[in-house]
Amino acid sequence: MDIAGVQKQPDAGIQWTEQAALDALNSMGLRAKARLLADVTSEVGLVRFLKWARGAGKEFVVLGEGTNVIFGDEFLDLVVLRLSGDFNRFAVKGEGITTGAAVSLARLVREAHKAGLSGLEDAWGIPGSLGGAIVGNAGTPNWAIGDCISWVEVFDRSGMKHRLTASKISFSYRQSTLGEQIIARAHLRLEGDSVEHIGERIKRVRARRGGQPHGVRSAGCIFKNPAGESAGRLIEAAGLKGLRRGGAVVSTDHANFIVHEGNATGSDVIWLIDEIRSQIHERFGINLEMEVRLLRSAK
Ligand code: EPU
Repeated sequence: MDIAGVQKQPDAGIQWTEQAALDALNSMGLRAKARLLADVTSEVGLVRFLKWARGAGKEFVVLGEGTNVIFGDEFLDLVVLRLSGDFNRFAVKGEGITTGAAVSLARLVREAHKAGLSGLEDAWGIPGSLGGAIVGNAGTPNWAIGDCISWVEVFDRSGMKHRLTASKISFSYRQSTLGEQIIARAHLRLEGDSVEHIGERIKRVRARRGGQPHGVRSAGCIFKNPAGESAGRLIEAAGLKGLRRGGAVVSTDHANFIVHEGNATGSDVIWLIDEIRSQIHERFGINLEMEVRLLRSAK
């Protein structure tokens, strides 16, 4: 892969790693390497990266905090883009927060609470970066991040920047129309409230999350909930809690989680996913749709 031309430029805002280990870059803790990882720290670097990818005809995938992703292959023949540096900045102003896409949702929940801004309480406990949360419209049954977006700044794959107001974006259950774009910044529209009230709501959200596995290696919910149903409830009803393949197991706390207990590979996880899907289809006639993103080498 020819990255020499880009590497030679000073302050490029890009750090390139070939054969990059991704083990620490996914909450599932799966072992994987990417052909090339580009850590981009500024908008200048991002434009440069996008021009390089276009010029070289390279497809790439964007990786946030890796909390909603499964690496399907140990060697990912892919170019992976990550944002850090400037994309990790945020500013609280009036009743809103302007924030880079790399800032974690957990941090934004804390900062909003401190600043007496309500609207993000339901995001308590949702892992991942804001960018990933926006693309997948992360949320709970009562709330999703799309509810408090006033605008999003994105770069298209040719390197052009666009500011999209909420009315130009369609958010629906665990999806948005932003999939192809690279999210750089966003503005969250919140509402002033007392720190105490916000704290009480966070406590209630925390209590609701009690049934989910904590402190384990997972990618959160694997499947979307079918209309009017809970994927976790169906998987439990099919008797699949505890089903194991290698070091990967269907959580006994919440059946819509697969937990990496040690030495699991992406193919173990994929095997479990296929098995769950086929058993749920057989028993209930329902096709479970993936909620996590599966990354595999381009074939
Ligand atoms: N249930 C079971 N068995 C299980 C799991 C759940 O019977 O193994 C039952 C629960 O008792 C409850 C119902 O199913 O009555 C719903 O469960 P829960 O409240 O845990 O919510 P969920 O619908 O399974 C959704 C989101 C979660 C989010 C919670 C917040 C989806 C696919 N999942 O889960 O999001 O944290 O609500 O309450 O929309 C994620 O996106 O990664 C994720 C985990």
